[in-house]
Amino acid sequence: MTRHAHRLARWQRLGLFGCGALLTLSGVLWLALHYSVGAGAGELPHPLEAWAIRLHGLAAFGALFMLGVLAASHIPQGWRMSGRPRWAQQRGSGASLCALGALLALTGYLLYYFAPESVRPALGWAHSLAGLGMAALVVVHRRPKSR
Ligand code: HEM
Ligand code: HEM
Repeated sequence: MTRHAHRLARWQRLGLFGCGALLTLSGVLWLALHYSVGAGAGELPHPLEAWAIRLHGLAAFGALFMLGVLAASHIPQGWRMSGRPRWAQQRGSGASLCALGALLALTGYLLYYFAPESVRPALGWAHSLAGLGMAALVVVHRRPKSR
């Protein structure tokens, strides 16, 4: 199998990176607004905070759809390919990407439906760290060490 046999279709790469970039930017913007602008007790949240999280929620639905698209062919095909030494490194990083994606969906769901005020900040930070970790790992994952 050649290196190019496993390249994602262009629309898939665009969809994945588009949603990923939007999630990261809107998440970081929300953190910046929430924790620096008007963070004093009793102050109203910055009006852009609501728009940042609306955009984040929209991108999250898109990203979950794209992960479903990958689950249909990229992941099983990549799993078989990464049995060879040349792509062995992709197996670990790919499996970690799947685990981080599941963790983000779970913590995102908890933030939306369940988080009591006492655990919300810690859960939000854990969610954000997992998100930033996933963004960084995609960059490592897509570049095999050996050619
Ligand atoms: C167990 C899970 C996975 C395995 C075994 C796997 C395997 C692979 C392999 C072997 C390649 C190298 C292709 C090449 O060098 O031509 C690759 C590329 C890539 N993978 Fe995965 N992958 C997995 C999950 C994921 C996930 C969850 C994502 C996204 C969040 C992802 C995103 C990518 C991207 C963007 C590329 C580069 C493709 C391109 O440039 O067109 N993979 N993967
Ligand atoms: C597949 C990826 C992701 C999914 C499915 C996801 C989903 C969600 C959901 C459902 C919420 C709750 C929205 C609400 O309370 O109205 C949320 C909140 C949040 N997300 Fe994400 N997210 C993802 C990636 C990221 C990334 C990459 C970051 C980067 C920093 C991030 C940072 C945040 C922050 C800061 C919040 C607000 C936390 C809080 O309310 O305390 N997320 N996310």
